[in-house]
Amino acid sequence: MNQTLRTTADWIRERVPFPPAVGVILGSGLGAFADGVDGSVRIPYGEIPGFPSSSVVGHSGFLVAGRVQGVPTVVLSGRVHFYEGHPMERVVFPARVLGLLGCRDVVVTNAAGGVNKAFSAGDLMLITDHINAFGTNPLVGPNNDDLGPRFPDMTDAYRRELRNVAVKVAKRERIPLRQGVYLGTHGPSYETPAEIRAFRVLGADAVGMSTIPEAIALAQMGVGVVGISCITNMAAGVLQKKLEHSEVLETTQRVGQRFVRLLTALVAALGGDRSGEDLDAEAPRRRAPAAKRKALAKKPSARRKAARKGTR
Ligand code: HPA
Repeated sequence: MNQTLRTTADWIRERVPFPPAVGVILGSGLGAFADGVDGSVRIPYGEIPGFPSSSVVGHSGFLVAGRVQGVPTVVLSGRVHFYEGHPMERVVFPARVLGLLGCRDVVVTNAAGGVNKAFSAGDLMLITDHINAFGTNPLVGPNNDDLGPRFPDMTDAYRRELRNVAVKVAKRERIPLRQGVYLGTHGPSYETPAEIRAFRVLGADAVGMSTIPEAIALAQMGVGVVGISCITNMAAGVLQKKLEHSEVLETTQRVGQRFVRLLTALVAALGGDRSGEDLDAEAPRRRAPAAKRKALAKKPSARRKAARKGTR
């Protein structure tokens, strides 16, 4: 698997004209962001060796590499889900490739149901933490020590430092941004009203069927994770109506522009210096020298070391 991951990362590296600073994974119906990437290389998942491709409507399945407000970015438009029958190792494969390509941070997005009754369909929510209700974990099995530790810490998986950046950016862009805990289930059936009541007691604000495996795999690699949920519907039993996938896609269409604006500003901020002052300025991006970035991309353990020392 390790070898396949490296082969895939090398294959992509040969076709992408720069090492990316930021990765983005786009959830159901949220693919519009990929259209605004400048000077992009676009590769269908089917052409990328080792990449899984999805069968779900609303998940187009291609990689886009280009610049977002000057920040070298790789966007994965579409993902595969555990409920499609892919083993966890396949589900997190693309996220791990982003880590191996050298992405310092990855923005993981999804469509989710609103569990918190104060939310409404169309809200955007910054993920502060998660509850893994998949019943499994992508790191089950022999540990690949090259990728990260056997028992990765998850205390700050959705890093506070990056969440602060997201909050500042949303404020500056005047985009309302909720914050809350994302609970991920195996799916593919939607939840029952009783499950949603139980999840609310557990502390969940939103529910979905993705993101958590990727967040765990990225956290293990020492990559910064920022999670954004688009609340596409209120979860089962909150409103007196049935849940349908078409509503999920309709809502993502409706909030698409706002979502793209937030994501663009967020990627720009993540690619630059993260201090508060820099967020308000049109500052050039401060990046590690290319040779160092390349070395870190090849060796996740080196990146973790650098992250601990605060030098990446
Ligand atoms: N439940 C689970 N996943 C979802 C939902 C939901 O209500 N809406 C969008 N993805």
